[in-house]
Amino acid sequence: MIPVNEPLIGEKEIEYVNECLRTGWISSAGRFIEEFEQKWAAYCGMKYGIAMSNGTAALQAAVGCIGLQPGDKVIMPTFTIISCAQAITYNGGVPILVDSDPRTWCMDVGQVREKVEAEMKKGDGKLKAIMPVHIYGHPVDMDPILELAEKYNLKIIEDAAEVHGAEYLTGRATTNPQWKRCGGLGHLSVFSFYANKLITTGEGGMVLTNDPAYAEKARSLRNLCFLPQRRFYHTELGHNFRLTNLQAAIGLGQLERMEEIIAKKRWMGKAYTERLQGIPGLQLPVEEPWAKQVYWMYGIVLAESTGLDAVRFAQKLKEKGVETRPFFLGMHEQPVFQTPTHLSHGGRDRGRGFFTGEKYPIAERIARQGLYLPSGLTLSGTQIDLVCDTVKAILDDIVKSTKL
Ligand SMILES: Cc1ncc(COP(=O)(O)O)c(C=O)c1O
Repeated sequence: MIPVNEPLIGEKEIEYVNECLRTGWISSAGRFIEEFEQKWAAYCGMKYGIAMSNGTAALQAAVGCIGLQPGDKVIMPTFTIISCAQAITYNGGVPILVDSDPRTWCMDVGQVREKVEAEMKKGDGKLKAIMPVHIYGHPVDMDPILELAEKYNLKIIEDAAEVHGAEYLTGRATTNPQWKRCGGLGHLSVFSFYANKLITTGEGGMVLTNDPAYAEKARSLRNLCFLPQRRFYHTELGHNFRLTNLQAAIGLGQLERMEEIIAKKRWMGKAYTERLQGIPGLQLPVEEPWAKQVYWMYGIVLAESTGLDAVRFAQKLKEKGVETRPFFLGMHEQPVFQTPTHLSHGGRDRGRGFFTGEKYPIAERIARQGLYLPSGLTLSGTQIDLVCDTVKAILDDIVKSTKL
């Protein structure tokens, strides 16, 4: 079986982890945490990094930083992981969804504009933020979002979990366009360092910001909101979202190989595209002229005309030894958000009656027709050949059988 992903742990990571073990700095204090925070923030062009226990926690803390009031709204894509919507709802907010761009699968920025303007017309001041989520390695078209944020005084919480090192050409309508790293464009940004990410800490995450007040707030939320001047005295509720020095040690070792990791991913993306392009019924990842994408996962979308959906396609690939993963299912299709409150089980999972009757056709289609192919850092050229030959053979069979 060719695995969908495999982390690649190098000698540096082993050396740094050993140092933690030898010196006893195994918990949430130690030199690797600060170094990892500072180096990752600097790499992304931000001032402050606040390491977290995972990307979901980082999102929750980042949304916590902007201080939503109950019922405040945040615009986000429907096509993403539940962590994004959960971070908003746990903080008392209401997610306002937009569909995906059919080429990049990231949020459709035209719809963001429409939804922002519709909210502004209401004049109730409820819309507070936009959460762009860069998908599968490709950046969101950020400039229109940055402009809306500036015009209407909205906060931007960028979810860059899937795009370590990806770049975006900002200001391309000006005389001074500039390439900037994803995660360096919002008021706050969020990363995950789960084992399938470009760089990993096993489990882990980080919040980045240029704002010292947000940095302080995120640090406080991470550590149970202990007051610095009086420990065990609390004026707010926080979390234990701490990352360990052991995990940061792995991250730092990985970060030292960042250029190599990106080069490998871009090589993989190019190799897949060269072998798969031109196959009828198959949509491949793009790289817009304003983007340097990092192919976190090499996603493909089957045309509905093939008569095959992603579940059956994945099954066929698995039978031939190729592991895949399905695309996200949109937030508007999640029972946990749809169930009316009075019919649900209560507690955190209580339904909210959100998104009733809402339709997002692109997200719905790619959720059913999309999957990603093996994309790990250990993938070889021979394995890519094998995966592509298998994909082609399955689609050829379908073409033959429909002709009969
Ligand atoms: C876009 C996005 N945001 C957030 C997360 C959550 O990160 P974690 O799994 O570290 O909680 C993920 C996870 O893969 C993700 O893909």
